[in-house]
Amino acid sequence: MKLRVIAVILILASWSCGNKDKIANDSNGKLSIDPVIEQKVDSVLKLMTIDEKIGQLNQLTGNGETTGPITFATEYQDAIRRGEVGSMLNVNGASYTYKVQKIAVEESRLGIPLLFGYDVIHGYKTIFPIPLGEAACWDLDAIEKSARIAAIEASAAGQHWTFAPMVDIARDPRWGRVMEGAGEDPFYGSKVAVARIKGFQGENLADSNSILACAKHFAAYGAAMGGRDYNTVDISKRTLYEVYLPPFKAAVDAGVLSFMASFNEINGIPSSGNKDLMNGILKSDWNFKGFIVSDWASIREMLVHGIAADEYEAANLAMNAGIDMDMEGHIYINQLKKLLADGKVTEKQIDDAVRRILRVKFMLGLFDDPYRYCDTAREKEMILNPRHLEIAREVARKSMVLLKNNNVLPLSKNIKSVAVIGPLADNKDEIIGTWSARGEGKDAISVLTGVKQKVPSAKILYAKGCDIAGESKAGFAEAIAKAKSADAVIVVVGEAAMMSGEALSRAFLDLPGVQKDLVLELNKLNKPMVVVLMNGRPLTIEWMDNSVPAILEAWLPGTMGGPAVADVLFGDYNPSGKLPITFPRNVGQIPLFYSHKNTGRPRDEAERYTSKYIDSPNTPLYPFGYGLSYTTFEYSNFGISAKEIGMSDTLKVWVDVTNTGKYDGEEVVQLYIRDLVGSVTRPVKELKGFKKVFIKSGEKVRVEFTLTASDLAFYTRTMEFKPEPGDFKVFVGGNSRDLQELSFRLN
Ligand code: BGC
Repeated sequence: MKLRVIAVILILASWSCGNKDKIANDSNGKLSIDPVIEQKVDSVLKLMTIDEKIGQLNQLTGNGETTGPITFATEYQDAIRRGEVGSMLNVNGASYTYKVQKIAVEESRLGIPLLFGYDVIHGYKTIFPIPLGEAACWDLDAIEKSARIAAIEASAAGQHWTFAPMVDIARDPRWGRVMEGAGEDPFYGSKVAVARIKGFQGENLADSNSILACAKHFAAYGAAMGGRDYNTVDISKRTLYEVYLPPFKAAVDAGVLSFMASFNEINGIPSSGNKDLMNGILKSDWNFKGFIVSDWASIREMLVHGIAADEYEAANLAMNAGIDMDMEGHIYINQLKKLLADGKVTEKQIDDAVRRILRVKFMLGLFDDPYRYCDTAREKEMILNPRHLEIAREVARKSMVLLKNNNVLPLSKNIKSVAVIGPLADNKDEIIGTWSARGEGKDAISVLTGVKQKVPSAKILYAKGCDIAGESKAGFAEAIAKAKSADAVIVVVGEAAMMSGEALSRAFLDLPGVQKDLVLELNKLNKPMVVVLMNGRPLTIEWMDNSVPAILEAWLPGTMGGPAVADVLFGDYNPSGKLPITFPRNVGQIPLFYSHKNTGRPRDEAERYTSKYIDSPNTPLYPFGYGLSYTTFEYSNFGISAKEIGMSDTLKVWVDVTNTGKYDGEEVVQLYIRDLVGSVTRPVKELKGFKKVFIKSGEKVRVEFTLTASDLAFYTRTMEFKPEPGDFKVFVGGNSRDLQELSFRLN
């Protein structure tokens, strides 16, 4: 029988000669699928038994092994032989995936290839900055390049599919997974989502170095109450549509071919059983042609949520909601046949799910050559390729945000002695961050080494000072002594890798342990001192801003973190990153984001009955879009092409930006709008455009934007997405706080 399938496929493949297996945009901008692939899918579907069909919907996990004999559960290996598995996750390496694929292809009846998925979140072996950090570069080409390299390395190591990008908007830095997304803003988050998907999926999924991307976690996972992972989400339909859905919609429009359901419930319905979300919004309204995978056992977790009494009910809810693949939940494989027999689900529904999965397997070229990703020579050449490391360094330095600089930076390369202090200064394991795929600390370069390489003739005095967590100050004396004898002090502090990421929410956002005390003690020496922060989320560091002369936010910068930090500290790169997320002053202000509503009683210091705290300002420590440079930029000649525009007109917006400092540098010019009166209240500011421009010292460039009525659209009172006539403000500037404004009217 297997021979028959292969023969059919070969005939079909010859039909498609000269045809690229790819997704195309039809005239409506919606994705359409190559009809040849549809024919191939149907021909395979016709040969499948119901058990084999259900098998395609089943995803099981390996154990992360990359070499040697297959060591994951023998019952899983047998399930592959029986055609009961469509996809595996956590199976790695060219030779290892080859062995596993061989079981499916040679030992199952139909020989349908497996799809291998893995969390390639910010690099495979060459690790880039954590996604939140990378988003701080506001350079979409760099972000795309980073995802491309992740795809090149992962695909060379047998992976077909990454569970990335996480496109969840996150406005609560207590939530550990804030590190995995692009921050707080739906407009910017959508742009980053598209760049990452383009990078992973490449020009054509049929290329053997492209991997399938996965937009996750659908939906509103980032809105967990109290920032506690997996917690309940209770939000209005408006907030869902305006804030949380846009990056997912952008992902569909960019051609993403898989989605992952989120763990959380929204307003009482867990996503894995949410028909309105999956079949409704995603598959029907947005015409999504890929497949939806559950999150890890999230179908089963509907029992714990209290919405399904048993596995049978959970499977019923999930299949009828439109979840196509069950990740390590064993629910579909155990229950779908019975549900079919009982008439709760139809074979058409099962076929639709199988079709979506087979379609992607065809598009990836797996039916042409199931082993095309298992190429040990390519793996050897691509993993940690020097070019990849160079780009990782470039992206890391672009991602760093200069938060404060009182004439300390850049440090001179002629410096005689530098103290490099702190628990993260000589660290290689933590700086690659969490979700670091096959990345290893041993391949990373620490800040200490980066500094040594940068200023080889300077005397470098290193002391750890303290641990990241823990109460011991035993190392302080040595650190202080070394700092005392140095010309400048670099203090590298922050969070461990496993303090942000999944299930790593924090109730306090201080520097852990005694790191604050270490920084304050060193600061007493009154040396030129810079704090390099490495962390997976905004921290509450108002005390630091009030005390130390310079702060560089380096995030968890990845394999090339050390050299990248040194490039910035010693002026080989002028920092250009801007925050993609607000830094609050204190935890009590959370959630704090720039695009809040005005309220009926906006804060007025002199008026008691206005919206404020009695013990904290409302303002953030550092606003969204904020970041300094070694140079200064002046904005002038802000202009717009009209005071009034009609619904089909375009408004041109321009501003001159002059580099008024001594260094060449890049500025992220940001454009915001405010709709002053709407049928529903509108945010005080909404990002609608940005451009990152390089300007030489003393030079001026004109930056132009265009706004159309559709840029001003929102979900009106009746939830129609459209612009409303009325008065608007338009703002430009270098962050969401320090802006110039003009007014115009939309008629
Ligand atoms: C996470 C997903 C991840 C999956 C597979 C889950 O716990 O929520 O983001 O892709 O595990 O590792």
